[in-house]
Amino acid sequence: MTATRDRTTSVAQSLTLEHLTKTYMSRGRESFQAVKGIELDIAPGELIALLGPSGCGKTTTLRMIAGLETVTSGDIRIGDRTITNLPPGKRGVGVGFESYALYPPLSVRENLSYGLLARKVPRANELVNTIARRLEMQDLLDLRPASLSSGQKQRVALARALVRNPPILLLDEPLSHLDASARQRVRRELKVLQREFGYTTIVVTHDQVEALSLADRLAVMDGGIIAQFGTPDEVFDDPANLFVAGFVGEPQINVLDGVVRRDRGAPSVEIGTGRMPVAVSSVADGQAVKVGIRPQDTLISIATASTGQVSASVQYFEHLMEFGQASLEVTGVDASVLVQTPAQESFKPHDVCTLWAPPNQIYLFDPDTGNRLR
Ligand SMILES: Nc1ncnc2c1ncn2[C@@H]1O[C@H](COP(=O)(O)OP(=O)(O)OP(=O)(O)O)[C@@H](O)[C@H]1O
Ligand SMILES: [Mg+2]
Repeated sequence: MTATRDRTTSVAQSLTLEHLTKTYMSRGRESFQAVKGIELDIAPGELIALLGPSGCGKTTTLRMIAGLETVTSGDIRIGDRTITNLPPGKRGVGVGFESYALYPPLSVRENLSYGLLARKVPRANELVNTIARRLEMQDLLDLRPASLSSGQKQRVALARALVRNPPILLLDEPLSHLDASARQRVRRELKVLQREFGYTTIVVTHDQVEALSLADRLAVMDGGIIAQFGTPDEVFDDPANLFVAGFVGEPQINVLDGVVRRDRGAPSVEIGTGRMPVAVSSVADGQAVKVGIRPQDTLISIATASTGQVSASVQYFEHLMEFGQASLEVTGVDASVLVQTPAQESFKPHDVCTLWAPPNQIYLFDPDTGNRLR
């Protein structure tokens, strides 16, 4: 089936990236590989969040899919069409990039509708009104781009990408300039619209709450590679490596040095002067590991630690809204941990506590590769 450009309802399509790489060449200087062979298979109508620190290659990846940047090697497919070398206008990809130019002499309404009118899309004005209402920007329709704030421009750029009703929608930090409450509302609306219209969508974001709440699946990027691709639950509950464990989760996961002990049958990990049982089988007695425990999964109790238990002393404690938060110094190691405690509990500095976490919520990682040990 060939894609028609003048459709009003897009048919959801899959998007596949096959070993995609991008090497930037700079005059006289060394080349820089920004994207290092990524593989992604996105189902028709799926919403993917691309999450990762600054400079990890998120924008470069989107720009290659949009055709705004050449591909060094690898392939991009929409459905069964290879689009790797097609010009941007022939790809069937809609972009809502932050820097996407609006035409200054046209009103916002005209900016949104001229493409639709040119293509004789039926009920173009109705579509523009609907999207404007859903993104809470009806009052912007008669303004010119120059008079808009950056948050308003961003909504217009998002609306313009949405009204085009592309089979593939690429959004680079689409909500970054909105204030906190508008950001939440527009985020919800974006997800509802995405479901209704069925665009296969990639949203780039720095914000993990946004990524976790929007995405069907999350691709976590690190230095030009995809460190993990999975549902939000998979990425949060079953991190593939130390980078993902450290990047996803707020507050950040605690990471401690430990040594595996298997001398009494069931494996445990020695941290400082005590041990905690772990649910891991592929580790050897005496193996050095990095131990990851989330603040939400860590339990402390004031009972003096009996021999063999991991103990820690409270450095500070604060009551937050729904829980408390304690920072503790772990006995016998030069490390502190952050622990979230039930709202009704209270601790004071120098309290000595037992530290514990359910075995299946203690993650072990190879200290050299960062890979998860299972
Ligand atoms: N045109 C270019 N020439 C050379 N290097 C570039 C070019 N564009 C990007 N880079 C480099 O490629 C890497 C990835 O950049 P990219 O813009 O894709 O990162 P990003 O993940 O979108 O970051 P951010 O979250 O800050 O937007 C960075 O190190 C950047 O400096
Ligand atoms: Mg970017």
